[in-house]
Amino acid sequence: MGKSYPTVSEEYLKAVEKCKKKLRGLIAEKNCAPLMLRIAWHSAGTYDQNTKTGGPFGTMKHPNELGHGANAGLDIAVRLLEPIKEQFPILSYGDFYQLAGVVAVEVTGGPEVPFHPGREDKAEPPVEGRLPDATKGNDHLRDVFVKQMGLTDQDIVALSGGHTLGRCHKERSGFEGAWTSNPLIFDNSYFKELLSGEKEGLLQLPTDKALLDDPIFRPLVEKYAADEDAFFEDYKEAHLKLSELGFAEA
Ligand code: HEM
Repeated sequence: MGKSYPTVSEEYLKAVEKCKKKLRGLIAEKNCAPLMLRIAWHSAGTYDQNTKTGGPFGTMKHPNELGHGANAGLDIAVRLLEPIKEQFPILSYGDFYQLAGVVAVEVTGGPEVPFHPGREDKAEPPVEGRLPDATKGNDHLRDVFVKQMGLTDQDIVALSGGHTLGRCHKERSGFEGAWTSNPLIFDNSYFKELLSGEKEGLLQLPTDKALLDDPIFRPLVEKYAADEDAFFEDYKEAHLKLSELGFAEA
């Protein structure tokens, strides 16, 4: 992508590889891949290209950011991850949380998202209000993903497929239920379920359903439902971009 990444030491690279293994173990033990993907996404998704603030730079562990309404429940992710982080003091939190997201997708059967180390942690958490509001529509999704983060329409749809993992918890977001019948498997079933309409026991957020009402988004939903390889290719590219917002920019 023409980015020039910082060089990290041999020791740092070794720590990344070893840490990956520990993360695989944690996720296998706790079945926490969804929460790991969510913490990576909520860390990176605060990036604002206009002010160059926010983004995947290790601030999520600050009580201030964990207290943002959108991050309810992510204190659990921070707590689960801390014993692993303690074993790798050399790694930045920014790299560590993004690595957790990449490993979560990989071990649940999703694409292998490339990982480049070298994020430097920021001291200041972002302001509240940068992450999408699930009760809104497509204009709002474009405001957040395209205008604020600098991603594309295609990235919005591909990344929405991240809801193939996990579920909503009433006490965290006010919503309840999973998007698919296999919430610990990363596949294209989010798009299939979206097209087949709401079913007993499964859930679709207003922002999920809105994807069906848009002339650019809907054909992509249909493409990903029909072709898992195409979804994995586009998801991989979009997740990589998300995980590197504000990092290694030319
Ligand atoms: C498009 C805008 C998005 C909105 C409005 C949205 C909204 C939500 C909401 C309300 C929850 C439920 C939280 C809870 O109650 O525990 C959730 C969970 C989740 N989101 Fe999103 N999300 C969006 C995009 C994404 C993206 C881009 C990803 C990753 C690529 C993602 C990954 C997840 C995962 C994995 C969970 C499940 C967490 C768990 O099981 O604990 N979401 N999202």
